[in-house]
Amino acid sequence: MEKLSGKRVLVFGGTSGIGLGVARGVLEAGCQDLTISSSNPEKLASAASRLQSSHENARITTSVCDLQNPNTLDRNVENLFLSLNPAGQKFDHVVYAAGDPVKLPPFLEQTVQSMLDAGTVRFFGALIVAKHAHKHMHITAKSSITFTGGINSSLPLQGWTLHGAYFAALEGAMKSLALEFRPLRVNLVSPGPVLTEAWENVPPEIRKPLEDRMLSRCATGAMAMVAEVAEAYVYLMGNSNATGSVVVTDGGVTIMGF
Ligand SMILES: NC(=O)c1ccc[n+]([C@@H]2O[C@H](COP(=O)([O-])OP(=O)(O)OC[C@H]3O[C@@H](n4cnc5c(N)ncnc54)[C@H](OP(=O)(O)O)[C@@H]3O)[C@@H](O)[C@H]2O)c1
Repeated sequence: MEKLSGKRVLVFGGTSGIGLGVARGVLEAGCQDLTISSSNPEKLASAASRLQSSHENARITTSVCDLQNPNTLDRNVENLFLSLNPAGQKFDHVVYAAGDPVKLPPFLEQTVQSMLDAGTVRFFGALIVAKHAHKHMHITAKSSITFTGGINSSLPLQGWTLHGAYFAALEGAMKSLALEFRPLRVNLVSPGPVLTEAWENVPPEIRKPLEDRMLSRCATGAMAMVAEVAEAYVYLMGNSNATGSVVVTDGGVTIMGF
């Protein structure tokens, strides 16, 4: 059954990794009207052309929106929604999968500013998107906002204190927003390790031992593929009974422990 047929969907972070996987999953679930957003026009054009080549009949729109600068975040997101909906059109589903390159300065060197910077895209960006999305969405249980967290919200991983803190905070915020925005649904996908472009930015001395350790901690014996994680988002969009939910898709890392 094509759960997303006739739906209008917007994916933040739709140019690579989980977001691009969600964009593919959304099209495969029947969506014919998809918008992807990121900060980089070249990456957007390339991702849109790849998506279009496998879904010729879909309308695929791109929209540049940089979510990294706290001084322009609110305005950038507001402008994005206004430009995509000039005549008051509405979205059915909004997915937030944007995440800036991972930086892991040692905790003992963190400052208030570096802590705030660590959360601008992953946490504050998600909340600002939800704030503006609400005005531009059908307020019904058939519509949804889906955030992206990570299992280090509850499973400690040395060196990733800020990521863990912001993902835990996002889970809490998601539940309150699900209440505040009802009947519009708000959910969160919490992935374990997934091999995406994001890993390329993790410093090599941290990446290799971490990848080896992650693999050894996957009960399934394999790191997740993006398409597997994307299925969780498509489920949350399509299931009008799911709200305030965290869907964990982690290869069993939670039961094995890091
Ligand atoms: N991969 C994993 O193992 C894993 C596990 C748990 C949680 N997560 C979380 O899932 C999210 C997505 O991760 P991923 O692995 O899919 O990363 P990714 O492949 O690097 O994709 C990140 C996306 O965010 C966009 N982005 C980056 N900086 C941006 C900015 N300043 N403004 C707007 N968009 C921006 C990127 O596009 P542009 O560069 O074009 O802007 C890209 O589309 C992150 O929050 C990550 O922490 C990932």
